Amino acid sequence: MRPGAAVAFHDLAPKLDSFRDAVLDGLSRAQKRVPCRFLYDERGSDLFEAICETPEYYPTRTEIDILKTNAKAIAKLIGPDATLIEYGSGAGQKVKLLLRALQRPRAYAGIEVSREILSRATDDLSLDFPNLQVVAVCADFLTPIALPPVLQRGAGRRVAFFPGSSIGNFTPAEASRFLDQCRVMVGAGGGMLIGVDLKKEETRLDAAYNDAAGVTAAFTLNLLERMNRELGADFTIERFAHHAKYDPAIGRVAIHIRSLANQSAVVAGRRFHFAKGEGIHTEDSWKYAVSDFQMLARDAGYRPVACWTDPAQLFSVHYLAA
Ligand code: AVJ
Repeated sequence: MRPGAAVAFHDLAPKLDSFRDAVLDGLSRAQKRVPCRFLYDERGSDLFEAICETPEYYPTRTEIDILKTNAKAIAKLIGPDATLIEYGSGAGQKVKLLLRALQRPRAYAGIEVSREILSRATDDLSLDFPNLQVVAVCADFLTPIALPPVLQRGAGRRVAFFPGSSIGNFTPAEASRFLDQCRVMVGAGGGMLIGVDLKKEETRLDAAYNDAAGVTAAFTLNLLERMNRELGADFTIERFAHHAKYDPAIGRVAIHIRSLANQSAVVAGRRFHFAKGEGIHTEDSWKYAVSDFQMLARDAGYRPVACWTDPAQLFSVHYLAA
């Protein structure tokens, strides 16, 4: 912890062998897969920050513009003395915009799997906002977690903040369950502020997930490098490629690591075969029209209150009342 920062750190991080178990299970399936949360080791988290800087990846900068443009209206809906709970808080840039606009924000909890990023971001925030109670929760937000008691008190609203269209990693059914879980956590009178990437032309989406500089490819392939580093795997990275494609009929970008040859690799002492062209599924990124998402939110027990978009209709930010 940096001097001056006063952050309560709750470590609920998944066990060390969970990566090994997930990989061995995922590579044993007919459709090979690895859950997307494992993309975010320290290197992967840095690469994701770099993706956000590429000219093709519009979501991050568009969402920041939407938050800046509408900060006053958002703050008015959230109200004074609020407690914010951010899921997948990452570097924590967006929440600063929000906190600056809010009236006397009371407490903030960042929930994030990447321990280094989480502790850096929450230390930073507590230095920037000395009157804010800052809590770091190192956890995988897929599993329901008990909120530290300090977040359960307080006069203001509890609001879940879920920016970046991370909700897109869930299937719609999983997204609905997650929203429902958050609604219970914020309680009656609480809210949810959530960034959701919009459906749009195929070319734009394919470009966003296949940037010319190859940063997204490096992010996806880092998963094989992580297996080499942590599980004693022997992947030759050059014999695999990143593959991302938007399916407009489904409204989803599917991302795979594709084998460029018939080959095998040893992972944690076990050998796996990869046919030429075979994929390891690493991520889905679902896209929603405004009305699609509002319907999903209603199904999860919320009342959609407001939705802000950018002029080009690339991205949306919704405020939902629990
Ligand atoms: C962090 C899940 C929102 O789906 O756009 C970006 C992840 N993967 N480029 C997304 C990602 C490749 C990102 N989310």
